[in-house]
Amino acid sequence: MAVKVKDLPGPKGRPIVGNLFSLDLPQLHNSIEDWSEEFGDVFRLNLGIFDQLVITRPSMLQKIMKERPAGFARNSKMNQIIREGGVHGVFNVEGEEWKRHRPIVAKGLDVKHQKAFYPAIEPVLGRLYKKWTERADSGEPFYIQKDLLRFTVDVTSSLAFGYPMNTIEEQGGAIQDHMEKVFPMIFKRINMPVPWYKLYRTKDDKEFDVAVEEMNRLVDEFISAARKRLDENPELRENPPSVIEAIIVAAEEEDDISTEDVRGNLLTLLMAGEDTTAVTLNWMIYLLSQEPDVTESMRKEAKDVLGDKTWASAYEDNAKMRYIEGAAFESMRFKPVAPIMLFEANEDIELEEVFVKKGQRILTQHRFGSLKDENFSEASQFKPERWLREGKCPVHNTDAFSPFGGGARYCPGRNLAILEIRMVMSMLLKNFEVELITPYDSVNEKMAFTMMSSPYQVRLKKLWG
Ligand code: HEM
Repeated sequence: MAVKVKDLPGPKGRPIVGNLFSLDLPQLHNSIEDWSEEFGDVFRLNLGIFDQLVITRPSMLQKIMKERPAGFARNSKMNQIIREGGVHGVFNVEGEEWKRHRPIVAKGLDVKHQKAFYPAIEPVLGRLYKKWTERADSGEPFYIQKDLLRFTVDVTSSLAFGYPMNTIEEQGGAIQDHMEKVFPMIFKRINMPVPWYKLYRTKDDKEFDVAVEEMNRLVDEFISAARKRLDENPELRENPPSVIEAIIVAAEEEDDISTEDVRGNLLTLLMAGEDTTAVTLNWMIYLLSQEPDVTESMRKEAKDVLGDKTWASAYEDNAKMRYIEGAAFESMRFKPVAPIMLFEANEDIELEEVFVKKGQRILTQHRFGSLKDENFSEASQFKPERWLREGKCPVHNTDAFSPFGGGARYCPGRNLAILEIRMVMSMLLKNFEVELITPYDSVNEKMAFTMMSSPYQVRLKKLWG
């Protein structure tokens, strides 16, 4: 007999309101890990008005992700809040609508496009190298995450929008200063028991509105530029060179994709592509500060592959950096930027031993299983070789590793993210030594839709001259 959600164990909250007002949101992912140790890998969180089903068991997470879009949807409150932020795209649409949006977006991010666009994104790496050389020359400590965010926004706009943005060299008012305000606010609103922002607007709400407006303005610029390119070169319609042309052409050909959908998907890409990859790189640099042997092996690989080159100027260079990719996966195992996902059941369903009713809200936490010896040998060790065919460890349960999600809705930007990580890490390690200035133990995790680190500083030293 399947167990009902209301009968599952879970943390005791206060009378009536349950745990609603006692959640420490920036530490929610960690609280869930603690509760999972105490109550097991499936438990109930009493949020007063409803019971949230919380799952950390890898086999169940995989079932939920694979039963989409039919069986489970993203949490409807989250979708609505993202939409209120002017974003209506593949991340937050469901069912048939999602089936129409997904192939258009995914096609523009595929490996074929990355290869074709590499000559446009490679100069972004050159600009980052120049910036880091100046930083090394100055000897001043700096917050490396800022540079990483600028790198990823320039790459995404180049690949997805065919627009050569240059926020690495531009000073002030850059787009990601606005974007930094969007994710945390969405996360805060998702978890607000009462939507106070609908009644009065705080300073943060006002800044959020400005950020959304600014991003819409930017995307409108992208759309005008792409429309002009299509008018001037009608042959591009047959084989759209980047996501933006593909979406515009699809919208013109299909009645059910509107101009709003075009804008919504572009905003989705800008938001999904920037923070996630930059924050992953930022965590990786932080973790490597405690892994001198791994860092040396990565440096050796970068030197072997790049030879005399300063950075990966050819697309093919990146594919050879398997150890660096392994280090990226290890970083994501310890510090996944999306450790939490929110779902809703579309129908009554038995999920292993639990009976899940239609409409049930579900929170999944994806790191808990990744750090268990039952899923990965010596799980507490940072071992890039576990991801290499030749270095496979005896226990290697890939179901317990889902930093890019899973099933039909897995992240379509995965390959682009891995490409960017290989590009940046090989350039960084081939040319610079990185010294962590902020004490390692004083850096904390902070959940704000993505799981960020508290700010930390590094100093770079040139390995030549
Ligand atoms: C290290 C970097 C990244 C991480 C860790 C990451 C992680 C994720 C995760 C966990 C999801 C949810 C998947 C699911 O529901 O199963 C997702 C969805 C998505 N990601 Fe990424 N992502 C990254 C980079 C990117 C990039 C570079 C892009 C594009 C430029 C991108 C575009 C998207 C889109 C459009 C979706 C929605 C897919 C859908 O609902 O069908 N992501 N990502």
